[in-house]
Amino acid sequence: MDRKLKIALGADHAGFPLKETIRGYLLSKGYEVEDHGASSAQSVDYPDFAERVAKRVASGSADSGVLICGTGLGMELAANKVSGIRATPCNDTLSAQFARSHNNANVLTLGARLVDEATARKILDVWFSTAFEGGRHERRIEKIAAIDQREHRERKP
Ligand code: RB5
Repeated sequence: MDRKLKIALGADHAGFPLKETIRGYLLSKGYEVEDHGASSAQSVDYPDFAERVAKRVASGSADSGVLICGTGLGMELAANKVSGIRATPCNDTLSAQFARSHNNANVLTLGARLVDEATARKILDVWFSTAFEGGRHERRIEKIAAIDQREHRERKP
């Protein structure tokens, strides 16, 4: 039997209600879900949750990440600071399709102020059913990784 895909999930206060419904949806689809908070709609700072989820994905402890804030943009900016992360804001299904097939994105960020629950479910369906195409896109992903490595190496003392 195939191993269940493990998804690290996180949100700030703006994304909290959508995270709660998304967690149930992902579980109903048979995925394993790690919920890294927030645990209420009380105001918090999105970088804290982005970092937790991104580190789980970058270390290989989780297969994929889903981060939700008001727009998906703050989560994307913060998650992409973690080496090895390719986080993309996808508030429509076409973005989700290309983020996976061309960019091999490993963290999906969603904007709870931009998508309703039904749209979020469709985006998740596309995200998790779309494979990376490889080929010419592989070379481009390798170039992103090379920038990542150069930048991290140069910043270390
Ligand atoms: C919080 O108000 C909001 O700034 C945050 O959820 C997110 O949209 C940031 O990008």
